[in-house]
Amino acid sequence: MSKAGRMNKVTTSVIRAMKEQGEKITMLTAYDFSTAAVMDEAGIDMILVGDSLGMVVLGYDSTLPVTMDDMIHHTKAVARAAKRAMVIGDMPFMSYQASVSDAVRNAGRLMQEAGAHGVKLEGGREFAEVVRRITAAGIPVVAHLGLTPQSVHQLGGYKVQGKNDAAAERIKEDAIILEEAGAFAVVLECVPTALGADISAALSIPTIGIGAGINCDGQVLVVNDMLGMFEKFTPKFVKKFANLNVGMKEAIGQYIEEVQEGTFPGPEHSFK
Ligand code: KIV
Repeated sequence: MSKAGRMNKVTTSVIRAMKEQGEKITMLTAYDFSTAAVMDEAGIDMILVGDSLGMVVLGYDSTLPVTMDDMIHHTKAVARAAKRAMVIGDMPFMSYQASVSDAVRNAGRLMQEAGAHGVKLEGGREFAEVVRRITAAGIPVVAHLGLTPQSVHQLGGYKVQGKNDAAAERIKEDAIILEEAGAFAVVLECVPTALGADISAALSIPTIGIGAGINCDGQVLVVNDMLGMFEKFTPKFVKKFANLNVGMKEAIGQYIEEVQEGTFPGPEHSFK
């Protein structure tokens, strides 16, 4: 079998081998058991229980209100469904920023209580020690650079990052520092394609892009975006692989009609 670990449970070694063999890594977010089960059966490599759940599941207008308890609750559901995929639990805002010991303890909770196989945290060189200590505790870490939504107020909005040479160089240096600190992969969000390519070539760990171009070693999208569950706003980097919003509204509309006109439930859905 030439594809790295296609049939095997996905681990950090499989992810590393995929980069070495030039096989693209697939990652999607999931927040519940049934969606994660479908993804796992479809053959996704990694499932991220992203703190984007704050926006797409809980209805907040940013990821900042998401708590460790929220993350544990949803990661548990996803972990129960994942037979093959590697499950990554996102470290929410303020679960790792205040101290290294908080960071290690909270990463440990995502593994021990929720059943994650690794954690992800946002930020550059200022979190190198956090990454080093979590990794030293035996917990695989995915770094997250470029647009880091937990810093939206500092960044001044959800904007493309690394657009000038100095900013691009800083993100690339951060990626190298975090690789040295022990991160086994890095998510690159909303950076120019050329920077995504440059960082992917510079690192021996894989890059997983979201709005970071075609040259990353893998891609990630928020599942609700790629399934077209929202009508109102679609970021430029999202491709809608389905239009579930329309399909769901049609199905729910038909259900309402059939209940109201008395044609559902029929005899085939009823007990004698
Ligand atoms: O929270 C999330 O879903 C993420 C992805 C956008 C990478 O961090």
